[in-house]
Amino acid sequence: MGRWPEFVQIKEVGPRDGLQNEKKRISTADKVNWINMLSESGVREIEYSSFVHPKWIPQLADAHEAGRKIKRNPEVRYSALVPNMKGLELALETGIDGASVFMSASEAHNKKNINKSIDDTFPVLGEVIREAKKAGKHVTGYVSTVFDCPYEGRISPDAVIRVSDQLLECGVDDLSFGDTIGTAVPSQVEELLEAVVNRYSKDRIIMHFHDTRGMAIANIMTSMAYGITRFDSAVGGLGGCPYAPGAAGNVATNDILYLMHGLGIKTGICEKKLQEAALYIQNKLGKDLPSKSVAYAAAQQ
Ligand code: HMG
Ligand code: MG
Repeated sequence: MGRWPEFVQIKEVGPRDGLQNEKKRISTADKVNWINMLSESGVREIEYSSFVHPKWIPQLADAHEAGRKIKRNPEVRYSALVPNMKGLELALETGIDGASVFMSASEAHNKKNINKSIDDTFPVLGEVIREAKKAGKHVTGYVSTVFDCPYEGRISPDAVIRVSDQLLECGVDDLSFGDTIGTAVPSQVEELLEAVVNRYSKDRIIMHFHDTRGMAIANIMTSMAYGITRFDSAVGGLGGCPYAPGAAGNVATNDILYLMHGLGIKTGICEKKLQEAALYIQNKLGKDLPSKSVAYAAAQQ
């Protein structure tokens, strides 16, 4: 095979990133059914919800209840987004295997998203990371707006490194770099990866692409050329950040599976089961999901 990795690890973020931006509320029972379907698809990590302020993200206000009702597959790492100690306490009560902390490389997005300056964020996240590690949890640090910010424009790799170095010093296990508004082109991915792949170990880097401009698959191919083998994605291409106006969903897990399996790269995930999970949530949301693979596979049935 040579050019491509043998295996790519996918984290399913649909139940968190996907649903946080959907207007239609999904009942807790339907979410739990859907997460259980995903748990049986072969995916090894699911970000199942978010313990942020329910006024900010009402779609995920049932994180606690949903977390308690999910049928746990011991082969799956169940993680959740956690902004502060209050969120971590609730998440730990519910039972998480992993905590995802998050902040932005750009000051303006950080302020809009979590109501703090970058400098004021570190003491808060530092405590969350320390306590989550003490409780034996895996901790991922999301860095948002690593390429473009909806308020500040182009973001330099230096700004990303400034935040990433500090998150690693605080103790995160890995870093997920977010193209929050889904506008990057492969040359931007190259510029960032040139700056970070030798600074951090490649297997600690996850790429998190939104697909607003349809560039996510090209950006994933570029990332793989740099030795990156970990990607976040959402079933059917659901998703978006409420504090990034106009930004579309995550790259669709279904599209990634088609690409990887076509290239001969293993993912451990069953395309048929992912298709069923996509159609399930499409039906509950009452609208077509953006994934072309989902639409094509549905037309074949
Ligand atoms: P704040 O208002 O600054 O918080 O919000 P505070 O600490 O000043 O507390 C104010 C009140 O909120 C207090 O209640 C707290 O108890 C309560 P009061 O005493 O007034 O009654 N509170 C909470 N309640 C429940 N759960 C909590 C919590 N924390 C405080 N965890 C905060 C700060 C971070 C909480 C808020 O800004 C927030 O919830 N933001 C959510 C932002 C968000 O979820 N954005 C979307 C996810 S990020 C994303 O999508 C990007 C990503 O996908 C990567 C990418 O694409 O780039 C990860
Ligand atoms: Mg995101």
